[in-house]
Amino acid sequence: MSTLVFATNNKHKLREVREITGNSVIIRSLSDIELDAEIPEDQETIEGNARQKAMFIFSKTGMDCFADDTGLEIAALHGRPGVYSARYAGEGCDFADNIKKVLEEMNGIEDRRACFRCAICLIFRGNEYMFEGRVNGEITQSPSGADGFGYDPVFRPDNHSRTFAEMPAYLKNGLSHRGRAIQKMLRYLSELE
Ligand code: IMP
Repeated sequence: MSTLVFATNNKHKLREVREITGNSVIIRSLSDIELDAEIPEDQETIEGNARQKAMFIFSKTGMDCFADDTGLEIAALHGRPGVYSARYAGEGCDFADNIKKVLEEMNGIEDRRACFRCAICLIFRGNEYMFEGRVNGEITQSPSGADGFGYDPVFRPDNHSRTFAEMPAYLKNGLSHRGRAIQKMLRYLSELE
């Protein structure tokens, strides 16, 4: 079974990824390997950021590792917040500030189509691989639900009546951008082994 370091300091993502991968790989966090580092993330695409984060951890440890980066792309906002999703409301902002800014920008707009796109960069046995997962949905008029993180309270996936934040974790993980990208990575790893 492969052991992979997940290059993130986000505990929500770590929990989700462990739920998605189950017993198929061993996921080690940065604290498991006692690496206390601010991971750089200043590229102009989510693929660029995922690669930058994974390469940073690989260069520090030489271990098999992966990183993800996600963007919420809203059609009526021409793809924003996109790669700027984390700090959309400015430096030091939190999830609530970002949601507030998105809802203000979407005020009065009928076309609420949006998609979450996740890029995963895997460095395995010194080689680099990229996987993508996406999920289409729409931005709700107001936040609903207390589970999940980030923009989950305002994102309702297509063909569902609940936002990601109103769903049990297994349901979100089964259809989410991150769940899909991780499943592609797991399939690829099982072919390599
Ligand atoms: P990053 O991948 O950490 O750069 O994420 C960028 C932004 O998207 C952050 O504000 C996250 O909170 C948000 N985000 C990432 N993944 C999810 C998700 O699964 N649901 C909701 N928001 C997310």
